[in-house]
Amino acid sequence: MSVPAPAFLPSAADAAAERPVLEVDGIWKKFGEHDVLTDVSLSVRRGQTVCILGPSGSGKSTLLRCVNWLERPDHGHVYLSGQRIGFRPVSELPMSQAELAQIRARIGMVFQHFNLWPHLTVLGNLIEAPIFVQRRLRDEVIAEAETLLDKIDLRDKRDVYPARLSGGQKQRVAIARALAMRPAVLLFDEATSALDPELVGEVLGVMEELAQDGMTMVVVTHEMGFARDAADEIVFLDHGRVVEVAPPEKFFEAPETERARQFLQRYGAAPRAGLARRRSQRGVE
Ligand SMILES: Nc1ncnc2c1ncn2[C@@H]1O[C@H](COP(=O)(O)OP(=O)(O)OP(=O)(O)O)[C@@H](O)[C@H]1O
Ligand SMILES: [Mg+2]
Repeated sequence: MSVPAPAFLPSAADAAAERPVLEVDGIWKKFGEHDVLTDVSLSVRRGQTVCILGPSGSGKSTLLRCVNWLERPDHGHVYLSGQRIGFRPVSELPMSQAELAQIRARIGMVFQHFNLWPHLTVLGNLIEAPIFVQRRLRDEVIAEAETLLDKIDLRDKRDVYPARLSGGQKQRVAIARALAMRPAVLLFDEATSALDPELVGEVLGVMEELAQDGMTMVVVTHEMGFARDAADEIVFLDHGRVVEVAPPEKFFEAPETERARQFLQRYGAAPRAGLARRRSQRGVE
């Protein structure tokens, strides 16, 4: 007799229908009496770039922290490729730290501050976790890291320590370091907001290239130009609630809510050339 699959496992039909890489299902989070996230859901399919926009304090960072269980939501579920984060299948007991570490290794995270290891070279930063956490073969990891350094145009900094890099270069290394783990999804939390203005473009350029290459990404940003050009979908948060979900053309040209209109006005998000061209290059309608 065949045993039915537990409800948390994706059925063959779900898999065939391309289940989301990341699914946030109705999460709530309070800090004290303050409702920081209220029934937030979002879904990211393979290769999609979802940009999360919203005013300061609207819960964007908390949402990303809930995704990789750095914050534990009070209610709701988060699934990575169909696997529920934070709880073991069947028993529903909380995951151990080791189990959480395993699942987090598949979720790349790039923060405002680069957090590179200062005592390791650029290459050392890229290969440390794949070798010692993922226990992959050193030669294979080094070859992949060198390809990533080519991609971010920093091959010549391979043996340099982070202190010798500019902020933009550090952040590009931080992105490559996250990619070296071969993550299922990459989360960015205002990855460019600590950079000098002249260094922002080089980091956004790498992120835009990744989006075009089909990396699955969730990007919290105040860079409206990037969101317009690179996002497949915009999720607009306000006071911890999802207020609008729309493709960028719709969100930027004809937002549905007054809150989104006010937000866009504040950021002076005027139409930018190149959107249609770049999106059509990626085969996005
Ligand atoms: N650990 C915490 N304890 C208590 N309150 C918190 C904590 N973390 C965040 N908050 C509060 O939750 C709300 C949302 O914070 P969050 O950092 O998620 O906002 P944000 O949208 O990322 O803002 P910003 O654009 O300024 O980064 C804020 O009011 C913040 O003060
Ligand atoms: Mg934040």
